[in-house]
Amino acid sequence: MNYKKSIVITGGAGFIGNHVVRLFVNKYPEYKIICLDKLTYAGNLENLKDLEDKPNYKFVRMDICDFEGFLKLMQDEQVDGIIHLAAESHVDRSIKDPFTFARTNVMGTLSLLQAAKTYWESLPEKFEGKRFYHISTDEVYGALKMDTPEGRKDEISAHEVYGSAFFTEDTKYQPHSPYSASKASSDHFVRAFHDTYGMPTIVTNCSNNYGPYQFPEKLIPLFINNIRHRKPLPVYGKGKNVRDWLYVEDHARAIDTIFHRGKIAETYNIGGFNEWKNIDIIKVVIKTVDRLLGRPEGTDLDLITYVTDRLGHDARYAIDSRKLKNELGWEPSLQFEEGIEKTVRWYLDHQEWMDRITSGEYEKYYEEMYKGR
Ligand code: NAD
Ligand code: TYD
Repeated sequence: MNYKKSIVITGGAGFIGNHVVRLFVNKYPEYKIICLDKLTYAGNLENLKDLEDKPNYKFVRMDICDFEGFLKLMQDEQVDGIIHLAAESHVDRSIKDPFTFARTNVMGTLSLLQAAKTYWESLPEKFEGKRFYHISTDEVYGALKMDTPEGRKDEISAHEVYGSAFFTEDTKYQPHSPYSASKASSDHFVRAFHDTYGMPTIVTNCSNNYGPYQFPEKLIPLFINNIRHRKPLPVYGKGKNVRDWLYVEDHARAIDTIFHRGKIAETYNIGGFNEWKNIDIIKVVIKTVDRLLGRPEGTDLDLITYVTDRLGHDARYAIDSRKLKNELGWEPSLQFEEGIEKTVRWYLDHQEWMDRITSGEYEKYYEEMYKGR
């Protein structure tokens, strides 16, 4: 079949990536979707099981640092779009092992950019109709102050806000963790490829995502699983840090909108105007798990265990996503209460998925699935 577009989605076996791959494969049968992933500890092909037989879907196991391999893939598949999500993504791991973050997030992104440039410049139409879309995080902006009375509602937010400032597209980059420093660096390289070579790039910076298929080292899935097993819930510091939470499928919809209608060389912030103090979100998760497991509500509040704070723990993230709303009409579709209920339900209904991860069993899946291919 002659596809209208050939698109590589990197990091497609990870948390956000699988939702993006699923949306594109199902919504655009006229596109060939190539999911490229190294399958690190965070990549899990079980997340994409429902897509394996789709004719417009292909999985390629590759490291984004493999310049030659990626250039060949671009040529073989005549790739005209790249949606780049592959990254090391966990702040706590970056504190222990910053080198891996620089290698994948910085060098890997640069390698993709250089390969895409090499291939596209070799074509008669060059960059015409091409897109390099880089997915980044709000953490590059650093931390916001909590300088208003806690829990003040704001005119642009349906929920509580914990400070007067928000991250906008013009906020100065001020990353604090090795993770956010590596993402900031990769964002700069992407923009530099536009400014220097005219590459058609777009960068988006999104707030914390939650939803199905998130690796259980991150707050929400880790805590749901611990509550289920009545294990302690390690709350860093006093639990007062604020994050802005967005349901992962809403992020995937934003990526679809921006990939198709976003302006080249622009940056868009993506967020839900949905700020929560960690301790408050933890209480909501506990109550939801208790209710769904038939335990008296609040039973598991005793699992909350305050532990030593994360080094350099950013106080508050809060995204102003009005540009995306005003220019492209995107808005989150789910209220937080609905999203968290769906999320908790999903993890409780997919206990085998969780158990295969926590036992390490999931890493055998790729080897079995692709044996002899
Ligand atoms: P994740 O850790 O769940 O998944 C990352 C994926 O990248 C995994 O499948 C992994 O195997 C793959 N990968 C890692 N190193 C690779 C390499 N060298 N080559 C090829 N593949 C590699 O991450 P996520 O939470 O899905 O985040 C995806 C992207 O979105 C990241 O770029 C992250 O910075 C960004 N982001 C995440 C959030 C969030 O809340 N999770 C918020 C904003 C932005
Ligand atoms: P996390 O899910 O790691 O995302 P990020 O660091 O990218 O925001 O953490 C979300 C918040 O929860 C963050 O403020 C750190 C905190 N946290 C805990 O208190 N305990 C935990 O065990 C984890 C994983 C996170």
